[in-house]
Amino acid sequence: MTITLNPHHTSIRGELKVPGDKSISHRAIMLGSIAEGTTTVSGFLLGEDCLNTIQCFKKLGVSIEQNDDHVTIIGKGIDGLNEPEDVLNVGNSGTTIRLLLGLLSGTPFHSILLGDESIAKRPMDRVTIPLKKMRAKIDGRNDGSYPPISVRGGNLRGIHYHSPVASAQVKSAILLAGLQADGLTTVTEPALSRDHTERMLTAFGVKLTRDKTTVSLQGKQKLKATHIQVPSDISSAAFFIVAALITKNSDIVLKDVGINRTRSGIIDALKLMGANITFINERMFNDEPVADLHVTSSNLKNIEISGDMIPSLIDEIPILALAATQAEGQMVIKDAEELKVKETNRIDAIVTQLKQLGAAIESTEDGMKITGKTKLLGGTVHSLGDHRIGMMLAIASLICEKETVITDEECIGISYPHFFNDFQKLITPAKY
Ligand code: S3P
Repeated sequence: MTITLNPHHTSIRGELKVPGDKSISHRAIMLGSIAEGTTTVSGFLLGEDCLNTIQCFKKLGVSIEQNDDHVTIIGKGIDGLNEPEDVLNVGNSGTTIRLLLGLLSGTPFHSILLGDESIAKRPMDRVTIPLKKMRAKIDGRNDGSYPPISVRGGNLRGIHYHSPVASAQVKSAILLAGLQADGLTTVTEPALSRDHTERMLTAFGVKLTRDKTTVSLQGKQKLKATHIQVPSDISSAAFFIVAALITKNSDIVLKDVGINRTRSGIIDALKLMGANITFINERMFNDEPVADLHVTSSNLKNIEISGDMIPSLIDEIPILALAATQAEGQMVIKDAEELKVKETNRIDAIVTQLKQLGAAIESTEDGMKITGKTKLLGGTVHSLGDHRIGMMLAIASLICEKETVITDEECIGISYPHFFNDFQKLITPAKY
């Protein structure tokens, strides 16, 4: 389907609570399923990715009841999952398939995991290589590298894995396998990736040790059910943060946003660019820090984005690139090869679609260069089936000269159901 967005030239004003964090919602289902007792979750993200995680765990024999954004999970304990009678379909969700591969590496039965066309192209060897070292039996297309993937788990031993990529999916898969392994499992990453798994394992009573980019846990620990309150997703908030920054007379408050340091690189980067963003009412939801974010229109200047900062804003690079088109000077994004193995090759997707709207943007081997400030013209652009590309293009339409037509916009429901309702709520008539 397509959506046509008129050039609004409006400001963005008001208060909004964006939906729950995708990474935390997945983990709440997974850890709740292997805990002892009943876990309750509030603020759960009803996006397609997280609903697919629920479906997969139901097929593994877990009783899960979902009522709007409240979820109740009757935990089966670490050894309690059942062999699924059907394949486990993860849809578009990389987090579901990679974390499940880790978890199922420890279960003494056979499972088959697959997903949509995008998942079929995403590399799984980054998790299957370490999981095989732990003794899991895994096979899949291209020597176990691509889905469909089959796993027969059990009898794992702990390892110390030095991951070549800073990836929370890799780290989490190994930790979930490590929970079921004999002895100590340790993961060291080249830079710190998002640490929601470590924080949530602690909330479920698991003991782990952390030292900079290394995390270790002893196997055979039991998880105790708990209540998880999911913060609003900073990755979803980022679209409206940038919308407010790049439109005139804008003033918004985004409620209950997760500001975990391993995720908040987008705020740091935008503040370095001169953005007016303040945290109000900082507090904790379980082990996760949250705040309300106050954002107003700002004059932005481009900076370089590279190195250890990349993992903390990797999912926000599409919307950061849009911000860069409206900032003075040149933004150079380096060390971001990981963008090539996301839901789409996001270097290509960002560059082709923003160029189509009139931006001065070029791809590089490991990122892109964007020169601002440019007028965006509008026209027909494609989400390419990637939710974050679709939302970035919708925000771009706010400042385009003419109408913007976005194809395949329904993929936005993967992480942000009702995105366009919220978008509409914040658009008010221009006051200048
Ligand atoms: C995620 C980790 C990141 C991120 C993805 C969600 C997670 O991927 O891009 O959207 O929930 O663990 P990588 O682990 O591949 O960096």
